Amino acid sequence: MLVFLGLEPSVPPGVTPFVTIRSIIPFNDLFALIMFLAVAVSMMVLLILGYLLARFRARDDEAIPEQSHGNRRLEIAWTAIPALIIAALFTYMLIGMFQGPTPGNVGAHGQDPDIIVIGHQWWWEVRYPKNGNVVTANEVHIPVGKRLIVNLTSADVQHTFWVPQLSQKMDLIPGHINYIYLDAAAAGNYQGACAEFCGLQHAGMRILLVAEPQAQFDAWLAAQRGAAQVPSSDPQVQRGQQVFSQSACANCHAIAGTAYAGNAAPDLTNFSTRQTIASGVLPHTPANLKRFLRDPQAVKPGVQMPNFRLNDADLDALVAYLESLK
Ligand code: CUA
Repeated sequence: MLVFLGLEPSVPPGVTPFVTIRSIIPFNDLFALIMFLAVAVSMMVLLILGYLLARFRARDDEAIPEQSHGNRRLEIAWTAIPALIIAALFTYMLIGMFQGPTPGNVGAHGQDPDIIVIGHQWWWEVRYPKNGNVVTANEVHIPVGKRLIVNLTSADVQHTFWVPQLSQKMDLIPGHINYIYLDAAAAGNYQGACAEFCGLQHAGMRILLVAEPQAQFDAWLAAQRGAAQVPSSDPQVQRGQQVFSQSACANCHAIAGTAYAGNAAPDLTNFSTRQTIASGVLPHTPANLKRFLRDPQAVKPGVQMPNFRLNDADLDALVAYLESLK
């Protein structure tokens, strides 16, 4: 639709510039059609109005014009045409509703979700229930050319999942599941964001969607599965692990294969593989991670991660530990 209006936002580096033309009747195209019809009808009405105002304007020397008391044919026409347009749009919408990923459709075909996305203030929990229950955060990987069923829900307030190039907006509502299809025709990194105001860091709730060839996706998934591989020999990493457990990080964060099983904050099992930190607020580099851990509020005001006031050496150790998680 943005392309249709010539308003497509500029494409960030590393992002494949393309828009899916969807194979099923989609909500995006229905919106485009309604917009097109509304603009066309408005233009027509304004043009006719303008012509009539000019053509039949009052002139000094004219007597009272001929008085009209209705025109049955005209009235039938201007009732019937809009009724037909609305009936056609309604039919189109019904087809779209029944072809879309509704609970009825997905349930009727016995289709379980490929991905579960859970909104949190202010990050995304991403689960792959069909694949060893891989859990990650803020970075959604999908295989190219495959249509996935995504379940959306929320752990706290209402959020909206939106990756504009790949799907329509869909709300994440606590205690309720919504569905979307996700598919990408071309590999690339697609940017997305929360599209429903959800608090202080609504804008700091970015989505990175990585579409990759099936083999690459499978390799990513295999790497995410199971326990974190922690090289235990490095003293810096060991010290970082101590800082992690003593600073109560584990109350909120989980790391598979360890005793840390908090679920209020992003799972860190494969933390080092992620491209961004703080839900897309910063690119993932050790320096940025240190900056975030030193003063979370300075990087992401409102973030619920406390400031443990760690000294520089502890920060370096903690960064080393987190960067060892893969
Ligand atoms: Cu989550 Cu806005």
